[in-house]
Amino acid sequence: MGIIKYVKEEIQIIRERDAAIKTPWEVFLYPSFKAVTRHRVAHWLYTHKHYFLARWYSQRTVRKTGIEIHPGAKIGKGFFIDHGNGVIIGETAEIGDNVTLYQGVTLGGTGKEQGKRHPTIKDNVMISAGAKVLGSFTVGENSKIGAGSVVLSEVPPNSTVVGVPGRVVKRDNVKIPRMDLDQVHLPDPVLADLNRLQEENAVLKKQLLNLGARIEQMEKKENQKAQKPADEAGESKE
Ligand SMILES: CC(C)(COP(=O)(O)OP(=O)(O)OC[C@H]1O[C@@H](n2cnc3c(N)ncnc32)[C@H](O)[C@@H]1OP(=O)(O)O)[C@@H](O)C(=O)NCCC(=O)NCCS
Repeated sequence: MGIIKYVKEEIQIIRERDAAIKTPWEVFLYPSFKAVTRHRVAHWLYTHKHYFLARWYSQRTVRKTGIEIHPGAKIGKGFFIDHGNGVIIGETAEIGDNVTLYQGVTLGGTGKEQGKRHPTIKDNVMISAGAKVLGSFTVGENSKIGAGSVVLSEVPPNSTVVGVPGRVVKRDNVKIPRMDLDQVHLPDPVLADLNRLQEENAVLKKQLLNLGARIEQMEKKENQKAQKPADEAGESKE
């Protein structure tokens, strides 16, 4: 692709995705423009086995932009990094077309995998500020990763993932009901036991009072029975 066509496309991408841009010339000031353009060169060097040169060039880009893209990473068309500072993209990461990243995003490895260690990001994915996507799984097309999320497993297409660890909260624009994850209002087992004991105590107390009343009644009847013959004997003497 000719350089003029490439720059025109970059201007178009940045204008579409950053409302803050006012003039086409500003595109040359965007860290994203510098980092992505220089990555294309570093990646060419990498694929032609000029590993040292590729790394040297990409490390110079880090100093200039604050964006670290390993020369081995495969990046599609229409890639945009908004703001950019602190973005890190690992060697075996693969990025589709029209993907947007914000500052502080890591497309990294967990440190536990060999070979393909970094994520595959499909077309039209948006990864918000500070999100960490760690591992060799795929983030499906048109998905969104919320700011500050830590994503550790496969993301289906058309999903929104948020939280630490990341969980799908929306799929095909439909909210997915939240499980009971209330970590604040935890049940108190001691209080529950005390309440149960109090209830049992109240029942026993009632039963004991009933029993006492019945014994009293029975004693009264017995006394009355015993009193009757004594009275009769007294009457017959008279
Ligand atoms: C995730 C995001 C893209 C919104 O996607 P969406 O599909 O429109 O999702 P919704 O706004 O409908 O949110 C869905 C749920 O996730 C929650 N949520 C959204 N973003 C979240 C986040 N970053 N962390 C935790 N929860 C989040 C919402 O509160 C909502 O929860 P609820 O169902 O209990 O109400 C957006 O919230 C986000 O994180 N944007 C950041 C963009 C950015 O990086 N900007 C930096 C500019 S400098």
